[in-house]
Amino acid sequence: MVKLGPSLMCADMGNLQETIVRLDHKRVDFFHFDVMDGRFVPNFTLGPEIVKSLRQLTKASFDIHLMIEEPEKYIDVFIEAGADMISVHAEATIHLQRTLQLIRNRGLKAGVALNPSTPLYNLDYIWDMIDYVVLMTVNPGFAGQKFIPLIYNKIERLNQLIAENNLSIDIQVDGNISYETIPKVLEKGADMLVCGTSSLFKKDKSLEQAMDELNNFMN
Ligand code: DX5
Ligand code: ZN
Repeated sequence: MVKLGPSLMCADMGNLQETIVRLDHKRVDFFHFDVMDGRFVPNFTLGPEIVKSLRQLTKASFDIHLMIEEPEKYIDVFIEAGADMISVHAEATIHLQRTLQLIRNRGLKAGVALNPSTPLYNLDYIWDMIDYVVLMTVNPGFAGQKFIPLIYNKIERLNQLIAENNLSIDIQVDGNISYETIPKVLEKGADMLVCGTSSLFKKDKSLEQAMDELNNFMN
């Protein structure tokens, strides 16, 4: 079953609590939190206090995508705030295996995120440490960008590697997940879709309408 997750950086920042409650009435498998530090990516978004303030509003998984340098320093802060799964960028931590171990040891699902230009061989010696891989389909940092077409091959190749090795690892795709790109990423083997401005947070539609349309499209 493909999982859908609203990308909260794309929501109305002044109404995050209301957004969570309204989306929670629809089919939401996880809420995706983009965390940026102005260094690993040239932008700032959500932080642990926001995660904490929303935690009690839903039982859905909180998926924290750390687009920050030295993510190992902030794992505990996000766990205390209410994270259920945390992904770190392979490019952002020198001791990737240790960082994943830290997340797993705390009982959370651990993910590795890869920038569009980062090869899949970065996963070669950590397969047993990961529950999901976040394939960036745009360069991380900003909503509203265009899907990088070569990443379709990357999804397909990752899916093959997972199958060949009999692994149970989800492929999450993040960036420009739209009605145009969804059929193609599903065909290539994506399991988790991060839904931002391209599919869910639309100016001309209510959240409920956009979520219903997305759910209907998936069925
Ligand atoms: C990039 C972000 C975006 C966002 C998705 O760092 O992770 O990919 O959540 O939103 P859209 O649909 O605007 O690309
Ligand atoms: Zn993200």
